[in-house]
Amino acid sequence: MTSRVRVGIAGTGAYVPERVVPNAYFEEIVDTSDEWIVQRTGIRERRFVADDEACSHLCIEASKRALAAAEMDPADLDLIVLGTLTPDHLLPSTSCMVQEALGAKNAGAFDCNAACTGFLTALNTAEAFVAAGRAKRVLAIGAEALSRFVDFQDRTSCILFGDAAGACVVAPHEDCGRGEILETSLGADGSGFEFIHMVAGGSRYPPTQETVERREHFIRVRGRDVFRFAVARMSDLIRDYVERYGEDEIGLIVPHQVNRRIIDAALDRIGMTDEKVVVNIQRYANTSAATVPLALDEALQEGRVEKGKLLILVAFGAGLTWGSALIRW
Ligand code: UT7
Repeated sequence: MTSRVRVGIAGTGAYVPERVVPNAYFEEIVDTSDEWIVQRTGIRERRFVADDEACSHLCIEASKRALAAAEMDPADLDLIVLGTLTPDHLLPSTSCMVQEALGAKNAGAFDCNAACTGFLTALNTAEAFVAAGRAKRVLAIGAEALSRFVDFQDRTSCILFGDAAGACVVAPHEDCGRGEILETSLGADGSGFEFIHMVAGGSRYPPTQETVERREHFIRVRGRDVFRFAVARMSDLIRDYVERYGEDEIGLIVPHQVNRRIIDAALDRIGMTDEKVVVNIQRYANTSAATVPLALDEALQEGRVEKGKLLILVAFGAGLTWGSALIRW
């Protein structure tokens, strides 16, 4: 058996579209209020793509920044893995548009759909390829243009989402010398398939005039069910690392930005404060696969990631799916 290559994070980058959409926007179109949204979710504003933008635009900008941070040429990439539930098209993969735009002429490319766990799934895949010696430099991206799939007549879901992208370059640790990925995990429980769901538009219910009239191609959320699942899963995943490595060793936790109350409730369960936790949901809302790489990139820019300490990334989402990574920075 060949020995496992130690894997590190060579660089990160993120991008959010320019259009800022405050809670007041929703007060005009559905029966809601800024006060309700802030109290129930922590969200104050989010970003939406412009009419002529799509998921790929966000991916390309975030990827360019990640490559610049890694001081790497796009032609050095062996693979691009994009986690998204909002690709530009059902066919072909948005990652191929990214590959072309970057000039990553030596890279394979594919999308994966694990909803809000998309980036952790891409990162997990990237880590596995590099660890196995099957690739040297992999670009893992989490990106969403969720505003394209939100039902602006449904107050329970339209207020929750935003658009963004985050990316990171994964490479052998001996080459990049930082961000060693020590552990990753992925999980799924399809019994919660309908908790977060887009009914039509796929091969089960292809788009028809009727499905469009029934608004079945928009995201539907069973908020309370997701809330319970999310608190339990987030606290279990964090607790496992804290118990095995010790709270003092943990420098920072970057959780999926799903709802401020979900993050607080999960921390409460394991008796931790939010001192070591990155929260930026107030500015970007839930950007699904993009929340973790966006928050990680911001934390790095702000100097919040302490060298030598452990970093926990954790996400969960539709499927149901979940994933985590433990990184020594
Ligand atoms: O990443 C995965 C995708 N995200 C999710 O799946 C979201 C997870 N869930 C949540 O974040 C929360 O469950 C929500 C923010 C969606 C809802 O918060 P909640 O505290 O669980 O509220 P609720 O669903 O229990 O609703 C409470 C009330 C209801 O009214 P009644 O039945 O008590 O009269 C809702 O109709 O709030 C009402 N409501 C609203 N009121 C004003 C629901 N949405 C809104 C709204 N504005 N936007």
